[in-house]
Amino acid sequence: MGAKVAAMLVLLTVALLGITAVHSHKILFLAPFNGPSHWLMLKSYIRELTNRGHEVTCITGIKFGEALGNYTEVLIDPAYPLNEKFPLSQLYNSQSYSSDLNNLFLYWRLGLATSRHGLEADNVQKFLKRDDLHFDLIVSEQFFQDSWLMFAYKYNAPIVTISTYGYSDFMDRAMGLLTPWSCVPHMLLDYEHGMNFFQRSYNVFLSTLDYILREYYYMPEMNKMAKEFFSELEEQRGPLPTIQSLEKSISVILVNSHPTLAKPRPTMVTLVSIGGAPIRAPKALPQELQRFMDEAEHGVIYFSLGAYMQSSAMPIEKRLTLLKVFGKLKQRVIWKFETDQIGSIPKNVMISKWAPQNDILAHKNTVLFISHGGQFGTFESMYHGVPTLFIPFFGDQHRNAIRAVRSGYAAKILFADITEESIFSQIRELVDTKQYYKRAKEISTMFRDTLVDPMNTSIYWMEYVIRYKGAPHLKFNAVNDSIVQYLLLDILGAAVLLLVLLIIVVKMCCCRKPVITADKKKRQ
Ligand SMILES: *[C@@H]1O[C@H](CO)[C@@H](O)[C@H](O)[C@H]1NC(C)=O
Repeated sequence: MGAKVAAMLVLLTVALLGITAVHSHKILFLAPFNGPSHWLMLKSYIRELTNRGHEVTCITGIKFGEALGNYTEVLIDPAYPLNEKFPLSQLYNSQSYSSDLNNLFLYWRLGLATSRHGLEADNVQKFLKRDDLHFDLIVSEQFFQDSWLMFAYKYNAPIVTISTYGYSDFMDRAMGLLTPWSCVPHMLLDYEHGMNFFQRSYNVFLSTLDYILREYYYMPEMNKMAKEFFSELEEQRGPLPTIQSLEKSISVILVNSHPTLAKPRPTMVTLVSIGGAPIRAPKALPQELQRFMDEAEHGVIYFSLGAYMQSSAMPIEKRLTLLKVFGKLKQRVIWKFETDQIGSIPKNVMISKWAPQNDILAHKNTVLFISHGGQFGTFESMYHGVPTLFIPFFGDQHRNAIRAVRSGYAAKILFADITEESIFSQIRELVDTKQYYKRAKEISTMFRDTLVDPMNTSIYWMEYVIRYKGAPHLKFNAVNDSIVQYLLLDILGAAVLLLVLLIIVVKMCCCRKPVITADKKKRQ
């Protein structure tokens, strides 16, 4: 009997181990860009993956900062000095990042600099030298770190990327689609309800410029960088693949986009919208904050410029203007402000160095969110149905603001245009007009109405790609087609040639006619 029980126990243990072995995979997570809001989103993915029993190794510039099982960190230390290289004072004081070309170069410069910085880090160098590691999947942030795709080649592992900022045309190309520039605006543009002739022209111009500069400036730089840092690999295995070809080997791109905010576009099964994935059910607020919000008779306004655009770096006169305006409101105001030196604070204003944004926006008394318009906060306000006043600064913030204003639950004001009167009347309008609130609630319902929760969708695709070793069966044939083939230019060329030949033949036949006619005339 005892032996039987023991045997059964052994069997059970083996079976359990078997189950864990089936469900647990080794995942290398690449997060070289150390933007705080980006990291918050990536963290939610790491948390979810480890919760499901996967072993995650992450190369990151920011510490996870909480105890987490199954998690190994390769820290880029010191982190890239983002604030030094892209100073906040510049963002507050100038419009230098507001032209489309400037914005493109901002992304590229940032991407090249942070990618290099990460690869140079001691811990990453040590990590690269190790030969004893194996990974089943590479998950990389898709935010201009293309040289890092070489990690997938090193470990011979499939790739899933997470585009934290939304769609770009090159993602279509990686999946074998050509973006129809006649009707899909470039990622930096906000034309959405059909483009007129001039908008289409500008769209084609900007998209072509983006394509050419990416292909002939940005990608060659990324290739050079990969060659430099993965030279050992080249010695062992021969010439490295190009970054362009690695890009085409990406199995799935999870795109931080949501059809409620961005218009739909032609897509592919392997381009998956997962906007709102990190948003979780709200947690209880800290006691003091909870009371402040619960007791707000006329509602609460939450003001945050995000994790990067720190309010404390704001020019002092604007800060005083805002405090004065907030003091005049009936509502209570929570201001995310990072230092103690804010000056005298009106009674209805609460300063919070670290505000649990999701939980504040989820509170029933929240009537307005004043935001810089980052992708993450924008989704949170839509999810919770909170009217929003945008103060956009750079990157995709202008576009997000314009889209939100168009969808009817928001307004926008440029930082430079903020005066006591202008911002006061904007706030009053958004808070006092029920229309904004009603529309925000409608959008919230639509935003949450998905077949599968977007985080679960994301994890499903990651595990799917592991199960089917990169899922090559889902890759669209056209990914390796030339533009000539894709656009049928070869067939068009052949058709034109045929037509020309036909015309020549017909002409030759007709040319004889005048002779006949001449003959006839002579006879007549
Ligand atoms: C996501 O999937 C898990 C596991 O299948 C399930 O328990 C959970 O309820 C799902 N979450 C949502 C929000 O649908």
